[in-house]
This record gives sequence, C-alpha cells and structure tokens, in this order.
Amino acid sequence: MSDAHSVHQAATSAPEQQDAFWMPFTANRQFKKAPRLLASAADMHYQTVDGRRILDGTAGLWCCNAGHSRPSIVQAIAEQAATLDFAPTFQMGHPLPFVLAERLAAIAPDPLKHVFFTNSGSESVDTALKIAIAYHRVRGEGQRTRLIGREKGYHGVGFGGIAVGGLPNNRKFFGPLLPGVDHMRHTLDIERNAFSRGLPEHGVELAEDLERIVALHDASTVAAVIIEPISGSAGVVLPPKGYLQRVREICSKHGILLIMDEVITGFGRVGDAFAAQRFGVIPDMITTAKGLTSGTVPMGAVFTSNAIHDAFMNGPDGAIELFHGYTYSGHPLACAAAIATLDIYRDEDLFNAAQRLEQYWEDRLHALKGLPNIIDIRNFGLIGAIELAPRPGAAGARGYEAFTRAFYDYDLLVRATGDVIAMSPPLILQREHIDQIFDRLESALRATA
Ligand SMILES: Cc1ncc(COP(=O)(O)O)c(C=O)c1O
Repeated sequence: MSDAHSVHQAATSAPEQQDAFWMPFTANRQFKKAPRLLASAADMHYQTVDGRRILDGTAGLWCCNAGHSRPSIVQAIAEQAATLDFAPTFQMGHPLPFVLAERLAAIAPDPLKHVFFTNSGSESVDTALKIAIAYHRVRGEGQRTRLIGREKGYHGVGFGGIAVGGLPNNRKFFGPLLPGVDHMRHTLDIERNAFSRGLPEHGVELAEDLERIVALHDASTVAAVIIEPISGSAGVVLPPKGYLQRVREICSKHGILLIMDEVITGFGRVGDAFAAQRFGVIPDMITTAKGLTSGTVPMGAVFTSNAIHDAFMNGPDGAIELFHGYTYSGHPLACAAAIATLDIYRDEDLFNAAQRLEQYWEDRLHALKGLPNIIDIRNFGLIGAIELAPRPGAAGARGYEAFTRAFYDYDLLVRATGDVIAMSPPLILQREHIDQIFDRLESALRATA
C-alpha cells in the first residue's frame, strides 16, 4: 500500500484509537464516546465515514463559501505543491502573494489597499492589534496603546484576541491577558428586538458607550477599537440600525483606528465582498481568514488603509519597517488556493449570492417562529440564528440536542453555540437547499425537548 493510499484509508474510516487527538473547542470525552466523523465533501454536502450524506448548513465553520472540494481549487493546490512547495517571504519572495494581494486590494473598499498575510483569523486579529499600536508609535503618538473591544466579541484565541474579546469562557482560564483593554457593551437585546428581520431597530445608542470609555481613559491613550460587524461565534449578534456608522464617527473624531473583524462576514457572507461595503462603513483595517481560501488551506489577511501602511514606509532605506510576520505569511499553497477561490467568487458572482437569496432565506427562517422554545430568530445576508430558551439549570443542553438531532436524524449540519443554532451555508446554495435546511431543522426542533 502506498503512503498516499494509507492516508486516504485513514481519512475515510473511523480510527481505532481516538485518545491522542486533543480536540479544539470540543467536549472531548463526550465526543469520543460517539464521534461524528466526516470523510469527504463535495459542493453542498459532506459524507460521513459511515456513508451518510450531510447537507452543510454552516459552510464547514463559516469558511467554505465556494462549496466543498471545488475541482479548480483542488487542482491549483496540487499543482502548486508540485511546483513550489514553500518559499520564505522574509527578505525573499515568490510571485504568488504579490499577485494575490493585488487581487484582494481590488475587491477591498477604498482606501484599504494593502494586505498583510497570516494563517488564521486569530493571527489576523493579533496582527491588526499590533499594527494599530505600532502605527501610532511610528507617528509619534506612542502613548496610544489602549484597545477597546466589546462584550460577546469573538476575535480568535491569541492573547490579543481573547483580551479584546468578550466571551467569559474564552478569557477566565488564561490569567490577566493584555493590560489596557476595555469593552463596550454588546448589542444583543432580545427584549426589544426579538424576531427582527434583518438589522434590529433598537440599540443605536449603545455606540455612545464608546464615548464614555474614551472619556474615561482620554482619547490620547486609545489606539484602536475592534468589533465584528456581525458577530457569529457569540450566537449571531447584529448591529442595530445606525450603530456601526456611529462607532465610525466616534473613532474618527478621536483619531482612534477602527478595526472590523470580518473573519466570518468577509468574502460574500452578507452580500458584498465585505460587510464594510454592504453597511457603507469603512474601517481603517479589516481582518479576514476562512472564506479567503474557502477553507481549503489555512490563510488569513489583514487589510490596512493606505495611510496606515504609508506611515511605516519611512526611515532609512534598508530598515525593516514592521517587525512582525509568520513563517507561512503568503504560503504558496494558500496563495494558490486563494487565487483559485477568488476566481470562483468572480465567475459565479458569489459576492452577490446573499443579496439574491436573502429574502427567501429570511422568509423560510422566520417561518419557524412559533415552534416550541424559540425565543428569537435573527438573520442578515446568508446568516441565520435561532435562539432557544435554555433549560432550567442546563444552559446549552437544548441547543446541543437540536444540533445532534439535526445531524443524526435529519442529515443536516448546523452549529450550536450554547442555545443558539446558527447557520451560514456555502454561497453556492440554491433555493432547494434552503428548503431542505429549514424542513430538516424544523423536524429536529420539533423533536427537541
Ligand atoms: C470574528 C472572528 N475573528 C476571529 C476568529 C478566529 O479565527 P481562527 O479560528 O481562524 O483563528 C473567528 C473564528 O470563528 C471569528 O469568527
């Protein structure tokens, strides 16, 4: 048996031993008693190791926007691996990241025309936070070091990301985190906004929290604000109408950089290349990952404004302008995957798919209102969330049951975060898939106690 064959065998059958793999963000002991193992994927579907066909309602983990195992991406990765497996990008280079960065700059909003490559959303966030602090320093405002995030925010798992993030479980085990971080309040307000279609009406005044925090610390100490335009990992929290505009105004007024974390909203999820464009609110940096390669090869990218980039391009010739980077910044396989992915997005007009389908998506999603235990339904673009009432003394149990029922009994992959069921399908889906997703989810929810 060739090695390649044995790798394939291992990937498509259940392993006998499961102890060594310490799984991320997973109840390891519970999972290993009844593993859910995926063996292959194509377009809108996964296949499990025991041969069941699962409809993917989550684009993997908010990443496979172009659908699964698309042949042109597969071919690009394979050819790249055979041509140039790796090349350093520290004081060396190869053509692909230059080509890719130009392609990305072309779809990014003005003036975000420079791109720094990373390998994940977490690295993109830490990169953007570091660039923000360093930017102020190279301009002679080195006292601007404070960072402001938001409650319920998720910005990955690096120390920077969990410090500005606002999910207690992601923070409380890990010590004092970064100093000099503050948090705005989140915008989830089920009492006033339950069952809103699209952006909620109430809550624009929560942006004024930023004024309060800035006044407390003085604007001269604040480097950046980081927020997700729509947060996914905390259970889909939407910005109230006018909220993002107001945050932008306050940042501009005080010379504070605005970073939008678009790791899940980037690359077509909300009906434009980036949520910044859909909402008409342009930040100073955008952090991305996931959809950049449609999840095929790990890669992230930080988009910075020309002003930020240019502020570093001073000093003596031959001086390294930014002491930051990853061995795999601009990795050839990731670049090849990203370029092939961008081709699909362009050729299939996938950045507009969400706007074509969102009304139907919204109608089918909100038709679930009235099923047992649903306390809120939220949507925007091709994102949907159903919040279930928690069982007394067992927060998350009902959401987990709905998720496992959907998977085992109805061949549907959704995501459960606590008692919120979230959906973010590949952007190639058709109306028939939307029908299947909501028919199956309805059955799963009816069966959930
Ligand atoms: C908004 C946001 N930022 C950052 C991340 C972290 O990305 P990664 O898991 O690739 O590090 C995520 C992941 O879901 C995310 O949703």
